[in-house]
Amino acid sequence: MSTNHPFPGDSSVSPSQATPAIHLAREGAVLVARINNPPVNALGFAVREGLLRAIDQAAADDAVRALLIVGEGNTFIGGADIREFGKPALAPSLPEVCDRIEASDKLVIVAIHGPALGGGLEIALAAHFRIAMSAAKLGLPEVSLGLLPGAGGTQRAPRLMGAKAAAELMLSGQALSAQAALAAGLIDRVVDAPNALGAGLAYAKELLAGGAVPRRTCLLAVSDFATAGSDLDKLAADTAVKSRGLFSPLKIIECVRAAVELPFEKGLARERALFLECLGSPQRRGLVHAFFAERAVAKVPEAMAAKPRPIARVGVVGGGTMGAGIAVAMLDAGLSVTMVERDDTSLARGRTNVEKVYDVLVAKGRIDADQKMRVLSRLSCSISYEAFANADLVVEAVFEDMAVKKAVFAELDRVCKRGAVLATNTSYLDIDEMAASVSRPRDVVGLHFFSPANIMKLLEIVVPAKVSADVIATAFELARKLKKVPVRAGVCDGFIGNRILAVYRQAADYLLEDGASPYQIDRAVRAFGYPIGPFQMSDLAGGDIGWATRKRRAATRDPRARYVHIADRLCENGWFGQKTGRGWYVYAAGERAGAEDPQVLGIVDEERRKAGVAPREFSDEDIMRRYLAAMVNEGANVVQERIALRPLDVDVVMLHGYGFPRHRGGPMQYADSVGLPRVLADIREFAKEDPLFWKPSALLVDLVERGADFASLNNP
Ligand code: 3HC
Ligand code: NAI
Repeated sequence: MSTNHPFPGDSSVSPSQATPAIHLAREGAVLVARINNPPVNALGFAVREGLLRAIDQAAADDAVRALLIVGEGNTFIGGADIREFGKPALAPSLPEVCDRIEASDKLVIVAIHGPALGGGLEIALAAHFRIAMSAAKLGLPEVSLGLLPGAGGTQRAPRLMGAKAAAELMLSGQALSAQAALAAGLIDRVVDAPNALGAGLAYAKELLAGGAVPRRTCLLAVSDFATAGSDLDKLAADTAVKSRGLFSPLKIIECVRAAVELPFEKGLARERALFLECLGSPQRRGLVHAFFAERAVAKVPEAMAAKPRPIARVGVVGGGTMGAGIAVAMLDAGLSVTMVERDDTSLARGRTNVEKVYDVLVAKGRIDADQKMRVLSRLSCSISYEAFANADLVVEAVFEDMAVKKAVFAELDRVCKRGAVLATNTSYLDIDEMAASVSRPRDVVGLHFFSPANIMKLLEIVVPAKVSADVIATAFELARKLKKVPVRAGVCDGFIGNRILAVYRQAADYLLEDGASPYQIDRAVRAFGYPIGPFQMSDLAGGDIGWATRKRRAATRDPRARYVHIADRLCENGWFGQKTGRGWYVYAAGERAGAEDPQVLGIVDEERRKAGVAPREFSDEDIMRRYLAAMVNEGANVVQERIALRPLDVDVVMLHGYGFPRHRGGPMQYADSVGLPRVLADIREFAKEDPLFWKPSALLVDLVERGADFASLNNP
């Protein structure tokens, strides 16, 4: 891959013209355009304008026979500038730049060394020849932003790689390796060269010497023309099911169909029209919000101010569901892991829990037995805390019980070296209290992983009062190593996610007792875009977990608060969900999809009668208004109390830990999109029935009074 200096030792190149984003220089008969628009060479206005100038300059200079486009930094071109979406368009547009590149009478060659994504790949497809370094990545990820390739990509990719393969590339949003792109026909050559400029120049000279002439993608026929129609029909049928209400995937297929059926110009016009529809859609706004929010969460004051402590050896206490998952996450990141359990039997089970994850990967052919052994050679197991003597960081994942946690922390305090980070994976317990129990509270932090810990991307980094900034910075650096999405959270019961979950789950229980069935609620929540509903989720996680929490909270519950007993009745029957074969649903042996259970509905009816509730009808919309209002209101409380730094932190937690549909951007972004006055009006209406539960958040009231929205708090 090229470095930040794509001209090493190339003293022959003399700069002839420069714009801020594109440097132009002539090398013999080749005009070289170097894109220099950090951080990812996005195709903002200056780059688009600079590329047109490059084409004009090549056309005007008789000594120039070819234009070579390369990118500086680590990325060839990261696509259109996402920050420009939703703002007034500035000419030249990207489609125009691509069309001018393709129409050029001088050869246009691209040399790709890193990611060539979205508009970046579209520039390449419009060029006449394409060479890539072996580390290049080529893709059309617009679908993940609610878009479709809008600069000719939907018309040119099918002409180079076939309609079916092009549609699959665009629908997946995944990038191809250079070799895969070569095999697919997207590029002409892959080289193992140290820098793109040298390889590109050599290729340009070779092409010129061979008498190459512009080779225009728009003139090619779609190679799988004969079968494309039926392939696209099938893809459309699959996509309609899989994309669950997403707008752009089916539009992508429509564009590819246009590439097959229409002349190029008409296909481009179709693409433009559909691109603009996607650009204006709320889904695009939600997905772009998610993209930027995921990057913003790591920008917290402590992580930016302090230097992380080095982490190479980690310890994990407990080898149960979470401990084993955390150990796998650490091993996968290349760290050495020591697991400590309370006795030999539990330790053997903990080790097996870790090994099972790799056994599955071996069975699926994702890794071989040697790779498994190599990874496991970094895992050591012990029943003695002394094994943590050299650990840089230890995470405890033992039972959710303050006395047990404190006993573990006392051991860690005794054996761990000075400077070791002491972390807890507690879901709800007071981390300030744990920190106060050791002699080094500055080293104690919460690392709240989500189950399965090796898969789920979210990591809440919980910041107790006394923790030092460099420990927080270390936690964020660890998250980066683990490829997690870290969100800073303050200490409270449930931190950000579980605290908000408790409230909207309660809203679901009220809906249930008031007349909606669990199955209707689950259906409404799925129709909104969640993968599963709250009652299915409870069956998946195990109803006993929530039951234990309710029992723990019973003593401190406001006696005036409404309490729905239905879930407790199910748990008293031992109906904990999938693991016991029944919960809210009944499960046939080995089945993960449950069936509706008349006996559960019987219990619901009985509890309604006991509570003196006359059941009423709720539409799916009524259900979602309550469910989301509860979520947003608690989200606002969490921001108001600085448990979350910004509304976007709440959004990222709900997206990555709780299945909130990504195309809606997260609950706070969703609330902005429907309008905060409407959310507040809903809460005030519901408060007429239950003012204790439906207490409008002071922050929400304040924003509505000021005519502001949550987004205004994201960039203070
Ligand atoms: N436009 C504007 N900013 C972008 C950007 C883009 N296309 N891509 C990345 N950035 C910004 C990020 O927001 C981040 O900013 P920050 O430092 O202020 O937080 C910075 O660039 C670095 O991004 P990453 O942290 O993601 O850097 P990585 O090195 O990990 O990844 C990348 C680089 C692979 C290019 C990754 O950023 C990426 O996947 N970007 C998006 C690619 C994409 O979706 N392109 C399609 C755009 S839509 C399009 O092209 C429409 C066209 O068809 C008309
Ligand atoms: P688990 O019951 O599966 O595992 C706990 C493990 O800790 C057991 O293997 C037990 O032998 C071990 N253990 C108990 N006391 C010990 C001690 N003194 N020393 C060493 N090992 C000891 O529990 P699970 O689900 O893994 O939860 C662990 C922690 O993670 C809890 O604090 C829980 O709240 C939290 N958590 C759980 C999530 C989940 O979905 N299960 C999600 C996020 C956090």
